[in-house]
Amino acid sequence: MVETPGLTALKDLAEARRVLLDDALAGAELVGSFGGSVVDVGSGGGTPGIPLAVSLPEREVTLLEAERRKAEFLARWSPELANLRVVWGRAEEQPPETFGVAVAKALAAPPVAAEWCLPLVEEGGAVILWVGPSADTEAVARVAAKIAGEIEQSPRGFLVLRKTGPTPEGFPRRPGVAKKRPLA
Ligand SMILES: C[S@@+](CC[C@H](N)C(=O)[O-])C[C@H]1O[C@@H](n2cnc3c(N)ncnc32)[C@H](O)[C@@H]1O
Repeated sequence: MVETPGLTALKDLAEARRVLLDDALAGAELVGSFGGSVVDVGSGGGTPGIPLAVSLPEREVTLLEAERRKAEFLARWSPELANLRVVWGRAEEQPPETFGVAVAKALAAPPVAAEWCLPLVEEGGAVILWVGPSADTEAVARVAAKIAGEIEQSPRGFLVLRKTGPTPEGFPRRPGVAKKRPLA
């Protein structure tokens, strides 16, 4: 992937391993603690979805990616892993409540990522965001409260949101709206 122009800004294999593989695997146990199929929203070059599919072989993992070129790159991986599928499309345009767990790393600002991911999971399911130390947890909590979600106890580096009810009317909002008119 490091050799494929435009897929990642990473130049060095050691840094690539840390950012693309080790960071993804750091969430494997957490993801495994929630049931159901998994969607990696904005999978880009395949992280965290591909490492998660390898480490959780009994779970179906969908890589969802809005850019066609990236989705085509990802599709080359699906014959390698029986539990992996790839969907080219935007989170806001997917059928709601299809997955047990939605994961996202570097998808968008965490409040926007929360708005995109929560409608995708069933009631009782979870959204797991990989976040940095400056993530605005309170803004994420305010967004989650509008889409039947609430923040749960989360390990460092992650925000875990539980879907506590059905997706409210009006969500997902149309593509682009979450960024243009953020909920929080
Ligand atoms: C910064 S990249 C992060 C990729 C990968 N998760 C990682 O950590 O390296 C964000 C990716 O999300 C995709 N993306 C942005 N908005 C999206 C949306 N609404 N639905 C699906 N994918 C989206 C972009 O095309 C891009 O590939």
